[in-house]
Amino acid sequence: MKIQLPAHSPLATNTFTYGVATAAFQIEGAADQRLPCIWDTFCAQPGTISDGSNGLIACDHINRWRDDLALIEQLNVDAYRFSVSWPRVMHADGSPNHAGLNFYLALLDALGAKGIKAYVTLYHWDLPQHLEDAGGWQNRETAYKFQAYADLVSRTFGDRVHSYATLNEPFCSAYLGYEVGIHAPGIACQKAGRQAAHHLLLAHGLAMQVLQKNSPNSLNGIVLNMSPGYPKTQSLEDQEAAALAEDFLFHWYAEPLFNCRYPARALAHIPADAHPHIETGDMEIIGQPLDYLGLNYYTRGVYHADPATGFGETIPNGAQVTDMGWEVFPQGLTDLLTGLNARYALPPVYITENGAAMKDQLRQGEVNDQSRLAYFQSHLRAVHNAVAAGVDVQGYFAWSLMDNFEWALGYEKRFGIVHVDYATQKRTIKASGHALAAFFGSRSRD
Ligand code: FCB
Repeated sequence: MKIQLPAHSPLATNTFTYGVATAAFQIEGAADQRLPCIWDTFCAQPGTISDGSNGLIACDHINRWRDDLALIEQLNVDAYRFSVSWPRVMHADGSPNHAGLNFYLALLDALGAKGIKAYVTLYHWDLPQHLEDAGGWQNRETAYKFQAYADLVSRTFGDRVHSYATLNEPFCSAYLGYEVGIHAPGIACQKAGRQAAHHLLLAHGLAMQVLQKNSPNSLNGIVLNMSPGYPKTQSLEDQEAAALAEDFLFHWYAEPLFNCRYPARALAHIPADAHPHIETGDMEIIGQPLDYLGLNYYTRGVYHADPATGFGETIPNGAQVTDMGWEVFPQGLTDLLTGLNARYALPPVYITENGAAMKDQLRQGEVNDQSRLAYFQSHLRAVHNAVAAGVDVQGYFAWSLMDNFEWALGYEKRFGIVHVDYATQKRTIKASGHALAAFFGSRSRD
């Protein structure tokens, strides 16, 4: 199967940015060359990671990055999205770790030499453990520490970076990490989750200030994950449940960025004693203009009213699901983009992650992942449809360059367009990777 889009589509030209994405903790390894982070601590607790694994070695990318870069080049991408490990580049006293910074400088220079644009995420969940010991994202001070980290990185990287994202998916850091506790640091408390979310958003705003000063020519923004909500039935109750779920889970992060406030429906749902403490001026810092919005899309949510919790979620009968159990629903990506465009004054949008975990089989040196390939095809078409409907989408990144540490699900879930044999660290481009490479390389020069 080939990836195909209508010839007239902006997505079929070289003006649209295509890339692959990774994150530091998920691929780097070499944990002994950096400070411990909250994911090291979390992984060391029994029962947290489904296969009992950790990020100590991961894809050994720190040692194999030149080979990985050669793979990225073979994929014909315009851009590579990766994250910087805060605990690798800063000592606990805030001074620079030059060895860590030099790793990223070498990577950036090599990307530049190949003409591949660097999309750098500053925070993809690996908070230094010493900051968690001081309260982590529940502590307002962490937002200012993040600003100092963003300042160090952006001053060091100079003009090598095409685009910065302050945070990747603050929903996961705050909600999964502090409110329900299935991600690091494993705290399950609503007040903690909502306060962490506020401090993450404040950290984003404070970091934007230094990025716009230190790196005014890069595209500076943030990456949010969103699953649009659909009612299970057309009853008013289910429609209200879907709207509440969207606001409570996802617009909690978008509404402050674009409208300087938390969504009223979600605030009304959360007991007053779990509301975040907000200081004067915070919402204006959070809501300063973005050069772009990054969106990560994997699936939708189907919700029904539940008197106890407000909303419950179900996967529709007969739905096609990935190895994560997530429904394959490309229309959700079109609906998400058009819905956000109607609700907010959006800057240009990049799809910064999209992809699927599938049960891959390596046979005779090949992975024939046709179902992942079909997922990419249908979701690229969904982005095309959103652009045709007037949404300004300028790029798309496949998650992920290669199989990696999938957080609480360890190494059992494979999202890569490149297969990784963890015993030998051998990389094999899957059929989906070959098809994407052919498509990226076939675009017209418009
Ligand atoms: C996103 C994360 C990314 C990866 C994918 C599957 O939530 O940003 O690191 O785990 O999901």
